[in-house]
Amino acid sequence: MEEVHYPCGLWQLEAACRVSAPKVAKRLRAGLARGQRPMEAKIPVVILGATGAVGQRFLQLLADHPWFMIKGLAASERSSGRRYAEVCRWVIPGDPPTSVGEMVIQPLDPTQLKTTVPGPTSSTTIAFSALPASVARDVEPLFAQAGYAVCSNASAFRYDSDVPLLIPEVNADHLALIERQRTKRNWQGFITTNPNCTVTGIAMALKPLDTAFGVRRVSATSMQAVSGAGYPGVASLDILNNVLPYIPGEEEKIEQETRLLLGSIVDGKRIEADIAVSAQANRVPVLDGHTICLSVGFEKPPSVDEAIAVLAGFRGPKEVQVLPSAPEHPILVRHQPDRPQPRRDRDAEGGMAVTVGRIRPCALLDLRMVVVVHNTLRGAANGSVLNAELLVAQGHVG
Ligand SMILES: NC(=O)c1ccc[n+]([C@@H]2O[C@H](COP(=O)([O-])OP(=O)(O)OC[C@H]3O[C@@H](n4cnc5c(N)ncnc54)[C@H](OP(=O)(O)O)[C@@H]3O)[C@@H](O)[C@H]2O)c1
Repeated sequence: MEEVHYPCGLWQLEAACRVSAPKVAKRLRAGLARGQRPMEAKIPVVILGATGAVGQRFLQLLADHPWFMIKGLAASERSSGRRYAEVCRWVIPGDPPTSVGEMVIQPLDPTQLKTTVPGPTSSTTIAFSALPASVARDVEPLFAQAGYAVCSNASAFRYDSDVPLLIPEVNADHLALIERQRTKRNWQGFITTNPNCTVTGIAMALKPLDTAFGVRRVSATSMQAVSGAGYPGVASLDILNNVLPYIPGEEEKIEQETRLLLGSIVDGKRIEADIAVSAQANRVPVLDGHTICLSVGFEKPPSVDEAIAVLAGFRGPKEVQVLPSAPEHPILVRHQPDRPQPRRDRDAEGGMAVTVGRIRPCALLDLRMVVVVHNTLRGAANGSVLNAELLVAQGHVG
């Protein structure tokens, strides 16, 4: 490929090129999309629920992010006003980034956060939300109203018809709902959401199959890791040496969110996919990584080899492939008879790839397969960061 040299920063050059040479600007964007922004061009972000299991993942992912800079941390009144290092019980692998240890936890108030934290230079600030749904329901609209682009992990707004439920490789076009949302709610900012962690694995595996062969019926049985319940989560006396065959609300989320993610935008409105989904959700004594057994019925049933080829060849839209957090292979196909497994496969491509294996005929529907997804990375914090990167790439933030 021809090498291009850039004499100065992308952001200044791009501004100049927008007027005089749009094609050059496009090449610059593509070439440097994954690259480090200069400090003054980084987008300020705040993390709501920064002390929880998902919040801690956000801290690790954002401490050295090439486009974003952590400017504020917020959590409950229990933690507010205290240093992060003093208040946070760290529950994920690795250490907290040293840059955040001395930061003082702020209250969940957009006005106070904006004034007490050294100011963002960009017009929109991103608020990554790792709040419980009951808290998110009240707090996230306040941040959207105040001009923040809220990237939420909570389920509070996932089903609102004007709020995008997003996996960039699956339904990037659903971001078209943002303008409708802003107009309808008269908000300066907006809310986008990422799906339930189990649904993330299911929808990513189904997307290429649906595009190629038309998915019509799905039976999904999940074996979900304990970290999916946050900290302290499930009591050890309930989960050790055991399987819990009930996770409140989970089966309903799996069924509805799968249909929403595989749905389409028609005349600015989100239409659910016409797919029958039956879910059975179980909690198992695994630390991280959800495993899902799928049986799938199709409009045009593929052979096993055809399904494998479509899954292995899946890449997602070009604009998504160049984002800093996008994995090279969103789906990895395993051919060994005993894979995927959560302990061995959850960290594929930094926890951003979904691994699919055991693809074989099904006596009830057409094909069966097993899926593994990292629940707190692709299924939560890193999925949300990828969403935010797409918002920047599409010009909704920055
Ligand atoms: N864990 C997963 O795999 C996963 C995957 C996808 C989505 N999610 C979703 O992500 C969100 C966070 O999950 P998590 O597992 O990180 O939960 P978590 O470990 O329980 O953390 C909850 C966070 O919210 C704060 N918080 C709790 N109650 C609050 C209140 N009344 N007011 C203000 N802040 C409050 C906590 O702050 P304090 O420390 O100050 O109490 C903490 O920072 C949830 O909506 C969850 O459903 C989780």
